[in-house]
Amino acid sequence: MSRLQDRVIIVTGGAQGIGRAYCEGLAREGAKVVVADLERAHADDLVRALAKDGHDALAVRTDVADAADTERMAQATLDRFGRIDGLINNAAVFQRPAMSRVPFEKIPVEEWDRLMAVNVRGVFLCCRAVVPAMKARRYGKIVNISSGTVFYGAPNALHYVTSKAGVIGITRSLARELGEHRITVNAIAPGLIISMDDVDPARDAQNAQRLQARAIKRTEVPEDVVGAAIFFCSAESDFITGQTLVADGGAQMH
Ligand SMILES: NC(=O)c1ccc[n+]([C@@H]2O[C@H](COP(=O)([O-])OP(=O)(O)OC[C@H]3O[C@@H](n4cnc5c(N)ncnc54)[C@H](O)[C@@H]3O)[C@@H](O)[C@H]2O)c1
Repeated sequence: MSRLQDRVIIVTGGAQGIGRAYCEGLAREGAKVVVADLERAHADDLVRALAKDGHDALAVRTDVADAADTERMAQATLDRFGRIDGLINNAAVFQRPAMSRVPFEKIPVEEWDRLMAVNVRGVFLCCRAVVPAMKARRYGKIVNISSGTVFYGAPNALHYVTSKAGVIGITRSLARELGEHRITVNAIAPGLIISMDDVDPARDAQNAQRLQARAIKRTEVPEDVVGAAIFFCSAESDFITGQTLVADGGAQMH
């Protein structure tokens, strides 16, 4: 029996990168996946690929920073599938669109604000949009994507690291608010993952450095974090909430 048979799970930022790997992994476990992404064409492309493999999926063009968009995302899911079992808050300003990697005093204020709007407010808005449907069925799984950078502190990305620390704050506080409704809220903190086809020499050097710091000495790829997402969306994690799982090949140990 597949672990997520017929569960309806929304993946924000699911059209590309690691989000796409979450969608594929959840679908393989039997879930009906909703690909909620700013990039409609990429979301449609993924839904077509999933359908070819026999999976039921839906693409919804969504800007997670926009409250009305997140309400539409939840409604479109309910219209199509009649329920919402899970939400993976994966969308972020990170690579697509690319954030600036500069000393903190050079971060444009507008970029700081947009990044917070997507990476932090977006998580709040998406949770707010789906929780009523979860409460109605007295069950739900929310998975927030943070980052290992929060724990070791990364230079030249102050807005990003701050936003991902905020994601952990949301995870812990929301877990306390929603526990009585049997809704779990957990976070995954990946390490540096190679998730783009084009090679950036600066990131290559960074990756070589990270690789040395890991207990498991190889490059981290999107599929390395999919198992954690499946676990947090499945019944196997029903008594685990408010936690942050670091999935980085043992670079950091808690
Ligand atoms: N790649 C890594 O090394 C790494 C490491 C740690 C954490 N993470 C986190 O994992 C997640 C995915 O990383 P990635 O490398 O695949 O990111 P990415 O930048 O490659 O992809 C992000 C996806 O989100 C979508 N998106 C961006 N803004 C959006 C918005 N406002 N509304 C809806 N969708 C939007 C994009 O279209 C894209 O499909 C992010 O939250 C990132 O912060 C990544």
